[in-house]
Amino acid sequence: MIGTIKKTIGVLSFSILCACGSQSATTLQGAIYADPSQPVERRVEDALSRMTIEEKVALLHAQSKFSSAGVPRLGIPEVWCTDGPHGIRPEVLWDEWDQAGWTNDSCTAFPALTALAATWNRDMSLLYGRSIGEEARYRRKDVLLGPGVNIYRTPLNGRNFEYMGEDPCLAAKMVVPYIEGVQSNGVAACVKHYALNNQETGRMTVDVEVDDRALYEIYLPAFKAAVDGGAWAIMGAYNRYRGEHCCHNKRLLNDILKGEWGFDGVVISDWGGVHDTRQAVENGLDMEFGTWTDGLKSGSKNAYDSYYLADSYLDMLRKGEASTETLDDKARRVLRLIFRTSLNSEKPLGSLNSPEHLEAARKIAGEGMVLLKNDNGLLPVDLSGMRKILVVGENAVKMMTVGGGSSSLKVRHECSPLEGIRAAVGDRAEVVFERGYVGDLSGSYNGVLTGQDLGESRSEEQLIADAVRAAAEADIVLFVGGLNKSDHQDAESFDRMVYGLPYAQDRLIEALAEANERLCVILVSGNAVAMPWVDRVPAILEAWYSGSEAGNALVDIILGKVNPSGKLPFSFLRKIDDCAAIAGNYFPGGEKVEYGESIFVGYRHLDREGIEPLFPFGHGLSYTTFEYDGLTADRSEMDRKGSIELSLRVTNTGDRDGSEVVQLYIGDEESSLPRPVKELKDFRKVELRKGESRVVTFTITPDMLRFYDPQKGWTAEKGEFKAYIGASSRDVRATIGFRLS
Ligand code: BGC
Repeated sequence: MIGTIKKTIGVLSFSILCACGSQSATTLQGAIYADPSQPVERRVEDALSRMTIEEKVALLHAQSKFSSAGVPRLGIPEVWCTDGPHGIRPEVLWDEWDQAGWTNDSCTAFPALTALAATWNRDMSLLYGRSIGEEARYRRKDVLLGPGVNIYRTPLNGRNFEYMGEDPCLAAKMVVPYIEGVQSNGVAACVKHYALNNQETGRMTVDVEVDDRALYEIYLPAFKAAVDGGAWAIMGAYNRYRGEHCCHNKRLLNDILKGEWGFDGVVISDWGGVHDTRQAVENGLDMEFGTWTDGLKSGSKNAYDSYYLADSYLDMLRKGEASTETLDDKARRVLRLIFRTSLNSEKPLGSLNSPEHLEAARKIAGEGMVLLKNDNGLLPVDLSGMRKILVVGENAVKMMTVGGGSSSLKVRHECSPLEGIRAAVGDRAEVVFERGYVGDLSGSYNGVLTGQDLGESRSEEQLIADAVRAAAEADIVLFVGGLNKSDHQDAESFDRMVYGLPYAQDRLIEALAEANERLCVILVSGNAVAMPWVDRVPAILEAWYSGSEAGNALVDIILGKVNPSGKLPFSFLRKIDDCAAIAGNYFPGGEKVEYGESIFVGYRHLDREGIEPLFPFGHGLSYTTFEYDGLTADRSEMDRKGSIELSLRVTNTGDRDGSEVVQLYIGDEESSLPRPVKELKDFRKVELRKGESRVVTFTITPDMLRFYDPQKGWTAEKGEFKAYIGASSRDVRATIGFRLS
């Protein structure tokens, strides 16, 4: 049955393609490019050979906010892009950011990428990619603008929630299945923002100074993995590197991406990230979007013709100032994208906001939540004998899928934490809500309205007093706070101004802890925050931005239907000064930002300086316990062509089924250049029934031992190494030494 459908689609798209163009169907019938049974590369070359210079240039720039032209004469369709990366952006007007007003574009909001990274589970990433790809396909989009893999360099970056944490190995391993999943739908993943877009302050201009070690070891590996994993598109970043904007940066695009890594896809600019025709032509950009245009609204001609890669490029070509080889290379890449996506006759039809997608969102969200602390087994909440549950905090009711910049979404329904808790508790206990603090009252983004009225007339003092009074009478207090998607919180275009929780939440939490010792703090955020009250609160859960099913996923964890198994994708610092980047000149947002800390980002810095984090990278508790034992290696020495296999036993020693993420870190005991104490190299997520044991194996290969020597390139030096097996970067359960000869 499926085969028949696919075949029919194949023939259909072939005949549509033949019918669209003004050339006669007979001419196109013989055309290789129009024949879906031909290999993509032959189709690309054939199409290219039939195109005029004007048609080629038309492929390279936008014709609306999110689309570019095809070649109507040849029946080659337009390219349609969409944000990304957490759901499919609602349809906007042709030339505006405002809504098109469709009533059939409500999507599933999947959890933010921090939550996905926190699952440490590649299967979740594949499920995410496949599901969001189906939604993109259903909405007839060819390019999904995501995922984002910029490294978490500081907790102040407003866009960290759209990325996959501080570690290049984790981000690299988690990004690939997402891409695979998206692209299995005939939709390109456009991995962003390449590269060094690690802050929002001055994001359009700031010039990043970073040494080659940090570039290759920290900031590029996830992009390289995406390319090796077959990504069809990459988005350039807004910022500059070595004085050139990243959307037309010779070193990043021509030398590294297309040269060293052999990327055969398209480089798409970030929206408004192009600044110069010659650089855009010569330095590796393929498609230009979002350039200061207001489309057809003002001026005497189509403003899209004024794009850097439009009329001025044509002008250069006509005067012989730009080479046709470069033009052909760009056009070839865009054609390849079109044959891989919209003209892919195998692509499925997709689906939007289906029960399966909501289920996937709930599953991923539950698996990503990180139980940071759980003294005296406060969680999971046992409802027997419980009369009153107090839920406090604005984030228990505030919709989080609207806001935060380009990742803002429109959903049919978002299940809030309070709603999820009320639905699951039912009449087994009374659930009382107190606002506790006022954060962000806004409820709209680009014309999408939450419809929530968050107006509040009580003073800060009164809100705290009311919450405290209710806390004294409750059997348990669930505080749901954190950050939100407003400016200077977790949002695009701005960075956070402070590391602490906003809106007097710290005071409120202290007061609640005083009133009731059975207090659980649930953070909804995409970033770490300071926790001056950490010792006075018995249970803390990081719940992230969890999308459409946020409340249901949260209550799955709180009531123990799902046993937490998320692990932190970045370190939680005790204080902001413990961040190497802040000490290393992050603020103020001047012209240049120097990555003075080099490779010592996140736990690499904390380990080197012996700084105790609040909660370490890789940390996350479970309602059960796991024991590790019997770490062995099949040999103690390997050469550059060899490998070593490690194995150990992990046992679920508690009284519930659960999953554990076993982490492999490696440290170089002696090296010619400074290296981190240890670095994550691999991980396994294992599901274990209570009492069950499993053997986990890791293969250590020489490439895991390499560092980037600015003189020699990637190098693995002979000598002693140490493998660390941990339940987090600080909870090391076993080590074993070995040699590279
Ligand atoms: C963002 C991108 C986004 C694009 C299109 C830009 O401002 O940086 O991540 O994909 O807009 O909305």
